[in-house]
Amino acid sequence: MNNKKFTVNSFLENKKNNEKISMLTAYDYSTAKLLDNAGVDSLLVGDSLGMVVLGYEDTLEVTVDDIIHHCKAVSRGAKRAMVIGDMPFLSYHINVEETVRNAGRIIQEGRAQAVKLEGGKEILDKVKAIVKAQIPVIGHLGLTPQSVNVFGGFKVQGKTLESAKRIIEDALLLQEAGVFAIVLECVPEKLAKIITEKLDIPTIGIGAGKYCDGQVLVTQDMLGMFTGFTPKFVKKYANLNKHIENATKEYISEIKKGVFPSDEHVFSIDESIIEKLY
Ligand code: KIV
Repeated sequence: MNNKKFTVNSFLENKKNNEKISMLTAYDYSTAKLLDNAGVDSLLVGDSLGMVVLGYEDTLEVTVDDIIHHCKAVSRGAKRAMVIGDMPFLSYHINVEETVRNAGRIIQEGRAQAVKLEGGKEILDKVKAIVKAQIPVIGHLGLTPQSVNVFGGFKVQGKTLESAKRIIEDALLLQEAGVFAIVLECVPEKLAKIITEKLDIPTIGIGAGKYCDGQVLVTQDMLGMFTGFTPKFVKKYANLNKHIENATKEYISEIKKGVFPSDEHVFSIDESIIEKLY
């Protein structure tokens, strides 16, 4: 790993050089710092924040202020990784002016270097306006969680000829509109391969298989911290859930037994001062 800041250009260079791109979600300073030190290329302050950090049922309650708040923390922790702020539900659905304002706030206040939006043909005017405002944009196609109520649940997308063609068309339109990468979520591996081959910009897969130019996972899933539902596409690289539970049980037990804190964790004072305090 080199220490050069990962930028929009790095995304495109990596695609050209056949070098895979790594992306993880992050929502706080200390985790961002750990992931950045480990060498991840990009950190996404995803609206998955709502589900894995704030405990919501879906991503729909997340606000622009929430994203900005967490982007600020992640940006302070990320030195090399490129920070991307997710545009939450309703932040780019009303009109172009509100969209550019919200994207601009994520960059200006959140200190992210790019924003991500869900959707294809129906959001092209918004994508173009954000790009025109000099803000790099990542697209997001396939299972777009903000449309969960339209899809009727979190389901694989693009399995029929018609829907697969629509996703390919949307990917090409987004590229034309100026996005520098596209997240493909929960689409068949062979469809992701076709899209990846058709595009000059990189695809970042989540549940989209090995042919994508990069991969993203929700960090809490990847580290085994989130005890709710685990999607098929998640690989757990650690089981922090067990470590946290065991460490917490030991902490509680040591408090109850008077083992913690011990001499090494306390501060001393001169005995002559103590005598005068009684
Ligand atoms: O919100 C998020 O974390 C995302 C990723 C799953 C791509 O959009």
